[in-house]
Amino acid sequence: MEIIIQPDAEAASRLAARFIAKLIREKSRAVLGFATGQTPLPLYRELCRLHREEKLDFDRVTSFNLDEYVGLNPAHPASFRTYMWTHLFGQINIVPEHVHIPDGLAPNIPISCEKYEDEIQAAGGIDLQILGIGTDGHIGFNEPTSSLVSRTRIKTLTARTRRDNAGAFGGEDKVPPHVITMGLATIMECRTCLLLAFGAPKAAAVALAVEGPVTATVPASILQFHRRTIVLIDEEASSKLLRGEYYRYVYEHKPDWQKI
Ligand code: F6R
Repeated sequence: MEIIIQPDAEAASRLAARFIAKLIREKSRAVLGFATGQTPLPLYRELCRLHREEKLDFDRVTSFNLDEYVGLNPAHPASFRTYMWTHLFGQINIVPEHVHIPDGLAPNIPISCEKYEDEIQAAGGIDLQILGIGTDGHIGFNEPTSSLVSRTRIKTLTARTRRDNAGAFGGEDKVPPHVITMGLATIMECRTCLLLAFGAPKAAAVALAVEGPVTATVPASILQFHRRTIVLIDEEASSKLLRGEYYRYVYEHKPDWQKI
């Protein structure tokens, strides 16, 4: 894992956006994996700015989102489809047919999940997957005790995640109990994972994921087995890491060509 600590979320998001822009410019048909939630919002704002002001071209980009609520109309204000079109897709020139988001209204969820996996394969796999982390250590909605070799499937949210996401629904009791999420094995096949975490509430989960044992009770810890995971965090989210000074030293002494 490469741990990069930035002063704040804005600085980290600018770095993430530059990294993504480089991939899009270098690879003619980049496949990007997107997350939703509060964490990637400054990143999406910066990507929209790069499109507007620096002509970053999303015309040949294919996208796959990590997850979606089951049973929620895609037009619902709290659906992840609405989130993506509001905060990113509606402001860039991505081709709507190139966008993939799990179908929360699928009549046959297992078949629709298999199809999602097939679509990822058919696109040539995901080049770069953006990840947030839950306060309980989830990535995607792979909640604690998720199988470490799981594939896209239905999951039941924990009470803690429903509480964390209650804002978008106007109350914990209104958060749907189920989601469809890429599995941990699906995420592990992405060529690069970029995990973002900002703020003190994420510090404990980040420390466990990065420096704790690999365990299904902290699903993000599986990324310790990933060939190229970049953990891009702010000072507050880094506050519980035991080796913070070492990560800073590594980053400061990296040859320029190796820096993201
Ligand atoms: C969202 C997702 C989740 C979030 C996580 C953090 O698509 O997959 O894993 O990244 O719950 O959410 P925020 O960023 O709102 O703290």
